[in-house]
Amino acid sequence: MDRAPHPQTPETRLPGRSGALHVLVLALCLSVPVTPAFGQAILEGERFHPVSAQQGMVATSHTLATEVALKVLEEGGNATDAAVTAGFALAVTQPRSGNIGGGGFMLISKGDGSAPEAIDYREKAPSGATETMYQDEAGNVVRNRSRFTHLAAGVPGTVAGFALALDRHGTLSLEQALEPAIKLARDGFIVPQRFTEGLEQARERLQRWPATLKTFYRDDGSAWEAGERFRQPELADTLQRIADKGVKGFYEGETAQLIVEEMQRHGGLITHQDLAEYQPVVRTPVHGNYRGYDIYSMSPPSSGGTHIVQILNILEGFPIAELGHNSADTIHYMAEAMKLAYADRSQYLGDTDYVNVPLQGLTSKPYAEELRKSIKADEARPADEISPGQPPGYESPETTHFSVVDKWGNAVSNTYTINFSYGSGITVQGAGFLLNNEMDDFSAKPGVPNAYGLTGGEANKVEPGKRMLSSMSPTIVRKDDRNFLVTGSPGGSRIITTTLQVLMNVIDHDMNIQTAVNAPRIHHQWLPDEIRTEQGISRDTVRLLESRGHKVVTHSAMGAIQSIMVGEDGTLYGGADPRRSTSSAMGY
Ligand code: DON
Repeated sequence: MDRAPHPQTPETRLPGRSGALHVLVLALCLSVPVTPAFGQAILEGERFHPVSAQQGMVATSHTLATEVALKVLEEGGNATDAAVTAGFALAVTQPRSGNIGGGGFMLISKGDGSAPEAIDYREKAPSGATETMYQDEAGNVVRNRSRFTHLAAGVPGTVAGFALALDRHGTLSLEQALEPAIKLARDGFIVPQRFTEGLEQARERLQRWPATLKTFYRDDGSAWEAGERFRQPELADTLQRIADKGVKGFYEGETAQLIVEEMQRHGGLITHQDLAEYQPVVRTPVHGNYRGYDIYSMSPPSSGGTHIVQILNILEGFPIAELGHNSADTIHYMAEAMKLAYADRSQYLGDTDYVNVPLQGLTSKPYAEELRKSIKADEARPADEISPGQPPGYESPETTHFSVVDKWGNAVSNTYTINFSYGSGITVQGAGFLLNNEMDDFSAKPGVPNAYGLTGGEANKVEPGKRMLSSMSPTIVRKDDRNFLVTGSPGGSRIITTTLQVLMNVIDHDMNIQTAVNAPRIHHQWLPDEIRTEQGISRDTVRLLESRGHKVVTHSAMGAIQSIMVGEDGTLYGGADPRRSTSSAMGY
């Protein structure tokens, strides 16, 4: 087995590469560049090396979750079994984002070439939610109300979503998939430095809530230190009730009662009926094609797939490979395309169970061509000169990331969240898990930005039972009907552009998956009108962009993308994101 808790370690590899090696030796002799038909099976000479394996691969943001999921694969489980097992384990080992109190999206693409499917287990607004619930009497948005109060929580979807995924595509029972998570919660696990740091940083916000203080901190209020064992007995009991009673063990009975009591004590809205009626939805993923690769990504209520495909469609008309990775020209075109897409997002995107979204128009090649014409080669268009475009007609309503590939070629791409780190910060008393603050992803008021600076309008206003708009973009790329790339990321509004860049790094710039994951990223979301970059974009590139009228700002790292690529010979390459110290890709 090939294990690499620190995926950027250069020498971590590698069985199953002899074919690639021969091609490389030949190429070196002939002194010509080597470009495999698809997939980067050739690794020598690359700065960063992916983990490689032949049968199964898991990439998650926490080593313990990767390990338990890999064990499922080794014991004959499939990608869905492993993904759900990882999802429950992350709910224990990574409480800042892993969850049972939140929601997300899972994309499943079988190895038999059948149409990929998406499971939408996004949270829903409680039935008592209203359009103006986050505004005061004068109509001003009361910001904290949608972020740090019991009104911030949507009805959680994770447990129902995972159960549906297992039902449709798994071979394990819910009880089997929960077993490692229950063990990790009951027996505890050794906390990494990142765990301690996260809880220290969020201490003030989290310790306002006695149940959070009791669940996640030591008796004296300090955070568990790296190397110490951290146990969650209440969470273990909550997970055990799901194992014993299935979905009803969460949405009804004792856990539901604890959630509702928590709401009633603090003016929250979630009722027994909201919980009992929660249903995940099977949706058709958004589908696009970029330079011969089939892109499948998340459909509404996420905006992710729509805008990844839209941006790729626009960029397809520019010679990106020739212009070069992170050159001023490439970044300019990317930023201009991103602006146009995020402007459309603000206008058109919302839950398709409630509003019409012109999905086909937004993802069509002719619309992209029209938008492309508005992009100038040497001048940035100011954001205030851009308004949402006019995609062709409305059609009838349709509808911490981890990636897994199994030995049958099945792939699962899953992104789920409680929104902020530790969500609302509110732990359900007696149940040991944190509640999301996903309601902040609705437009509290048209034109007023959410925590990620994203604005929205009517299409994303709060309505009872509606799902709030998301940017989560679990994505699977196929080539010739075979799963080729499985990827996705956290990062709020940056999820779309992070995922986009890994696709481009592989398809346009021919990078292996670890290099594609590690490469410095840029982001533009229309408003604020600035290109945000990670460290690693040169000063002269920045100057060239500034000379075209761009404002460029360097910020902290963006996203934590966990990816798997399938080489042409079937070799699996895992690329975990070094931006999270606990990320890991492992295969067998
Ligand atoms: O659904 C969304 O788009 C956001 N709630 C995701 C939040 C997120 O990625 C936070 N992580 N960095």
